[in-house]
Amino acid sequence: MSQTPVLEVKQLRTSFFTGEGEVPAVEDITFSVGKGEVIGIVGESGCGKSVTSLSIMRLIPQPPGKIIGGEIRLNGENLVDVSEKRMRQIRGNDVAMIFQEPMTSLNPLFTIGNQLMEAIRLHSNATKKEAYSQAVDMMKLVGLPRAEQLMKEYPHQLSGGMRQRVMIAMALSCHPRLLIADEPTTALDVTIQAQILALMRDLNHKLDTSIIMITHDLGVVAEVCQRVIVMYAGKIVEEGFVEDIFKNPKHPYTQGLLKSVPDIMEKKERLYSIPGNVPKPGSIKQGCRFAARCEHAFERCLESTPDLYATEDQAHQVRCFLHEEGGGIQ
Ligand SMILES: Nc1ncnc2c1ncn2[C@@H]1O[C@H](COP(=O)(O)OP(=O)(O)OP(=O)(O)O)[C@@H](O)[C@H]1O
Ligand code: SF4
Ligand SMILES: [Mg+2]
Repeated sequence: MSQTPVLEVKQLRTSFFTGEGEVPAVEDITFSVGKGEVIGIVGESGCGKSVTSLSIMRLIPQPPGKIIGGEIRLNGENLVDVSEKRMRQIRGNDVAMIFQEPMTSLNPLFTIGNQLMEAIRLHSNATKKEAYSQAVDMMKLVGLPRAEQLMKEYPHQLSGGMRQRVMIAMALSCHPRLLIADEPTTALDVTIQAQILALMRDLNHKLDTSIIMITHDLGVVAEVCQRVIVMYAGKIVEEGFVEDIFKNPKHPYTQGLLKSVPDIMEKKERLYSIPGNVPKPGSIKQGCRFAARCEHAFERCLESTPDLYATEDQAHQVRCFLHEEGGGIQ
């Protein structure tokens, strides 16, 4: 990945200002996504995955939310600073997002064709006729059967899996360089999930679109991602190549997450789950945020906050004192 990354997020901080004061949902997030790269962001509920993606899209509801620091460079342009008008051009054209529940993102009152053509025309000078044929092509590309017929149908006439394919077609219709998929398959049944993931992998190969795949499921990461970021309580706790992290997870949190992945070969009675809960943002003022749930915690973990320590080649980073000087836990 020697070329300039498509996306560079540096020291991103996003907070919500509520009656209880500042809630720091995302703190000092730094990562980049290369051209054609598929990167996963994982973590339990409330870790800040969606706040990270909505910050990139500049869709954080303000108030109560606000990006309070850092940079989000998309093809070099810092999205934190651009006007709302410019941001509307960027959304769809350069970066698009797929949400968890496709029904809520499609308008029930308009046909699929209408919405797809609208999305295409919003971001290009295509005539109606051109938009129609592009829409049909896009529907075929995402594997929707009877594309011409489907153009005339309404969202409720489609199954959940088909609606998610329409959303993907819509997101990709203007060939964005970056696609953010926030839990794109959780609302779908397992077989359809597998098909949608295969489709995304296929589109990534065909169109060279960079993808950020947000999920709480490490199985999904193993399936489609090259690199993975593990988030805990608003911060990155581990980052590296999927292969390295699955073979040699360094952070106790990642180790716990991996233990909770169902093993097909080994039918376990009950799936492991990490005891305890993710702390509320801002509730831990001092020390490692994982300390209360960590079986390796020692005195220092309660007093000071670990930095992200990197391996010599910088490929693997981990926020844990046990890895400060290349140490390790098995
Ligand atoms: N509108 C809001 N107002 C106040 N706080 C918010 C708001 N949205 C998010 N937060 C805070 O940000 C934190 C991170 O939320 P986020 O939605 O990013 O979690 P997530 O990792 O996407 O979780 P999930 O897996 O459940 O989707 C939450 O714990 C919550 O405290
Ligand atoms: S810094 Fe301490 S508490 Fe935090 S993950 Fe490492 S060992 Fe556990
Ligand atoms: Mg979320």
